[in-house]
Amino acid sequence: MSTDTLRYFDYAATTPADPRVMEAMFGCLGAAGVFGNPASNSHAAGLKAKDLVEQARAQVAALIGAEPSEIVWTSGATESNNLALKGFFDREPTRRHLVTSKLEHKAILDTASYLERLDVSVSYLLPDPSGEISQAAVEAACSHHTGLVSLMMVNNEIGTLTNIAEISRLVHAAGALLHVDAAQAVGKTAIDVKAMGVDLLSMSAHKVYGPKGIGALYVSREVASRIACQMHGGGHEQGLRSGTLATHQIVGMGTACELARTEMASDNERIAQLSERLLSGVRATGAITQNVSSAVRIPHTLSLTVELPNFLPSMLADNLAISSTSACNSAAGKPSHVLTCIGLGKDSAERTVRLSLGRFTTEADVDFAVDCFRGAIERCLEVGAGRQDMQIRQLSNDVSVAPQLSGADVRAAHAIGFRSIVCNRHDGEAAGQTQFAKIAEVASSLGMAAHYLPVESGDVTVEAAAAFGLLVAELPKPVLAYCRTGTRSATLWNLASSRQG
Ligand SMILES: Cc1ncc(COP(=O)(O)O)c(C=O)c1O
Repeated sequence: MSTDTLRYFDYAATTPADPRVMEAMFGCLGAAGVFGNPASNSHAAGLKAKDLVEQARAQVAALIGAEPSEIVWTSGATESNNLALKGFFDREPTRRHLVTSKLEHKAILDTASYLERLDVSVSYLLPDPSGEISQAAVEAACSHHTGLVSLMMVNNEIGTLTNIAEISRLVHAAGALLHVDAAQAVGKTAIDVKAMGVDLLSMSAHKVYGPKGIGALYVSREVASRIACQMHGGGHEQGLRSGTLATHQIVGMGTACELARTEMASDNERIAQLSERLLSGVRATGAITQNVSSAVRIPHTLSLTVELPNFLPSMLADNLAISSTSACNSAAGKPSHVLTCIGLGKDSAERTVRLSLGRFTTEADVDFAVDCFRGAIERCLEVGAGRQDMQIRQLSNDVSVAPQLSGADVRAAHAIGFRSIVCNRHDGEAAGQTQFAKIAEVASSLGMAAHYLPVESGDVTVEAAAAFGLLVAELPKPVLAYCRTGTRSATLWNLASSRQG
């Protein structure tokens, strides 16, 4: 699948809606469609909408082996995770211990740290050397204080699968409940909440060819009374989540889940073949390592590290929609918490990309991606030690920083994919250093943008950071910013991105 020239390899971030999903959704929007409020039980328009909502509820339930009445509509997996964790501890007076893992999505980690402020103690499990959360780690962490264990079924960055069925036995033996974040698992691996012993399970439609803004929480009948509502209002969804139901979104999610149920086996077979083709292509370069290759994984999501010091994920950005997991916390300039957890150093994490394949990925896309990797690797080798000499540090997908540059550095920066240069210095160039005018001349001869953003000595202000942020927003990306040592540029960018939130 392509978007003009950009080939899409970011299905783990989101999927395009399947055309069959879109068609079903359109039928719920206009005056001629089923647009009524599903809660209006006094007329046919409302009753028809309710019928569609209940049909969708049954479709979602069927995909995970639940009863329709156990499906609660939410706005997505983030809300489902919040409802599960906060809703549980709101009602739990004694077992105020949560077990989760360091590999979880921020929607769990941030909720857990919020709960810590409400006197919930939290244990964060680490993965074993293969990248998986082991049963032994779960067993060791659970005690008679543990109320809830929350683990993801499939990891969003590395694609590892957690053995939920085995873990649920341990969790229940400890007297706790099990919540599963299945945002990355739905439609990619079989789920049977009853057979697996899951009490609560979060889902999101936009990861499975449905629309954004709709998800669900499976709440097992047995535990429903132990979950407190987090969205108060008209008492919709058995009192667990108020708000007028979005019929079109719900119908979209139902259709997406129905398609996943009937097409998952054939989708998975094709995606596994494409994934193998991609892996053998990139392995043949001799410069790429696949992370967690020995773990039990889904084939859809690949984490690849390019083992060349000059590589930057942005070198692929013009051609491939991929995710650079190196800078999930760009404000702090920190590498991805997941990559760090599986043992990657900062430097390797910065050279790591996630490629995720899906229903619309073709062989041609895969071959194109392999060519892009080959091209990037060739450019890395051509540039040789150039980048090392420049001491480039990638701070985010958009911005890297370096100490004072020369004209030759600008050419090397262009070769490895930079599109703009920003000079953040206050003191003019010292004798023997390349003048910014010269840098700008070389940059413009290469078709790159070049800007001077003077910053006063020792005075890195909020205003200067904001000006830098605005400048970066306007420039072609990625941007390489430099100053005498590179430190001022980094501080400015970190300040600018932390203020953006
Ligand atoms: C594992 C996991 N959990 C939760 C979420 C959040 O889902 P949503 O975008 O539906 O809020 C995501 C999305 O990236 C995810 O990958």
